[in-house]
Amino acid sequence: MAADKNYLWWQSGIIYQIYPRSFQDSNGDGVGDLQGIRQRLDYLQWLGVDAVWVSPIYPSPMADFGYDISDYTGIHPLFGTMADFDELLQDVHRRGMKLILDLVPNHTSDQHPWFLESRSSKNNPKRDWYIWEDAKPDGSAPNNWLSVFGGSGWEWDEQTGQFYYHAFLKEQPDLNWRNPEVQQAMFDVMRFWLDKGVDGFRVDVMWHMIKDKQLRDNPPNPDYSPEMATYEKLTPAFSTDQPEIHDIVQKMRQVTDAYNERVLIGEIYLPIHRLVTYYGPDNNGAHLPFNFMLLNLPWNARQIASAVDEYEGALPEGGWPNWVLGNHDKPRIASRVGRAQARVAAMLLLTLRGTPTLYYGDEIEMTDVAIPADEIQDPQGLNMPGLNLSRDPARTPMQWNDAENAGFTTGTPWLRLPPNNSRINVEKQKDDPHAMLSLYRRLIALRRSEPALRTGDYLPVMAEGNVMAYLRKHEDTKLLIVLNMGHQTCYFKPGNMHLQGTVLLATDPEREGKLVQEQIILQADEGLIIRLQL
Ligand code: NOJ
Repeated sequence: MAADKNYLWWQSGIIYQIYPRSFQDSNGDGVGDLQGIRQRLDYLQWLGVDAVWVSPIYPSPMADFGYDISDYTGIHPLFGTMADFDELLQDVHRRGMKLILDLVPNHTSDQHPWFLESRSSKNNPKRDWYIWEDAKPDGSAPNNWLSVFGGSGWEWDEQTGQFYYHAFLKEQPDLNWRNPEVQQAMFDVMRFWLDKGVDGFRVDVMWHMIKDKQLRDNPPNPDYSPEMATYEKLTPAFSTDQPEIHDIVQKMRQVTDAYNERVLIGEIYLPIHRLVTYYGPDNNGAHLPFNFMLLNLPWNARQIASAVDEYEGALPEGGWPNWVLGNHDKPRIASRVGRAQARVAAMLLLTLRGTPTLYYGDEIEMTDVAIPADEIQDPQGLNMPGLNLSRDPARTPMQWNDAENAGFTTGTPWLRLPPNNSRINVEKQKDDPHAMLSLYRRLIALRRSEPALRTGDYLPVMAEGNVMAYLRKHEDTKLLIVLNMGHQTCYFKPGNMHLQGTVLLATDPEREGKLVQEQIILQADEGLIIRLQL
């Protein structure tokens, strides 16, 4: 593990996200599992990542593929048993790596015993564990809040004659985090896993967890247009990002801090100035409020450079940055920017200041896989047909080799693989110096060996046309990163610095070891890391 004095593992390390359904199937049922992940730990160690975050593995009716949990302290039989989990955790630790679990505290499954009790009668002791409200006098929902997955956020319960709120599916009722019993129950869940030795949590939809006490209507979104998800019709001013959330996050942090060096990561889609408030007023909030800027920005050198500057400038003192290039909810980077630029993106992700999170498969240039309409499984895609919102294309099985089903399963995979994966797989790429996998592995190794990349300062150099350039600096080491974010050859000639150095690492390995002086001709889609001579 890359250890720096004064930096914790989640600051100096690299996180790798596994979507467990799709990583490795060990028993031929077509769905990935915990033993499958165990079998692939050698690969992750070879790749050089420090920590693995695994999306939900708990018992769940799978209405939202595990983000609808019916037992927070169990393991879904599809993924294995608690014994499998313990073995996985041990093996991860034995390799000097860390294991981060997904915590989904905003909502449970509608099949969770808490909700079954809560919905059983109006005076059940757990009634107030969820958000129950009377209908308006005309029988309509208590307010205009929408579900992220389409339609109203309110579901009528015939039996008890009230509505309950669900920010996502109706099968995912929101917990009432104003209720101290709910808080304690979820903190106990955290302790259960922390006691086992889990190294931290990625907290699902952290900014959703508390809603306006008066349940005021959300205002219309002036930027809405019909090709957007219906949820975008309103600005969620009263259903998300409420001031009281910070108290809750601080309490979660206290639970985490009772253990040694555990991490609290928040999934938060908010503009930068709101996002950084989740570090907490005294850095007592989330350690890493996920920074999703690279998922959403247009792929444009100037826009990215200025957003990086804005982010760096907005971080509170002591707040540690982080970067994400892909996850199980967004189109894959190689589909979004193209395969050639995905290499530049890899260099960007692994040379910016702050903890990088990699999404499985991006390291072998996996692209979104077209899923025929009758095979769509994601509820977000099914509920809003025609808007192209299914997340299945970015969740397809990991491609390990060019055998049938790419070595993912001996059975029928739960989601189809692309028709031809003869080049896009681990086995083909692992010894090919020009392959994406080699680029990722070399970038990771360099980041691990160069304190300037791991924890050094970030200094912008320039952003003009398609070129973005910046320095990473640690003591006497200065590394210059120059990225051509376009498909044409271009020049880089810094006006404000003396340029002399050696190419340490390049998207085109042939460039490595070459001297550069005064100016650089950048090939199309090229990225260089240059060690400057002082
Ligand atoms: C965010 C998760 O990343 C996503 O996959 C899920 O559907 C929603 N939260 C609801 O839990």
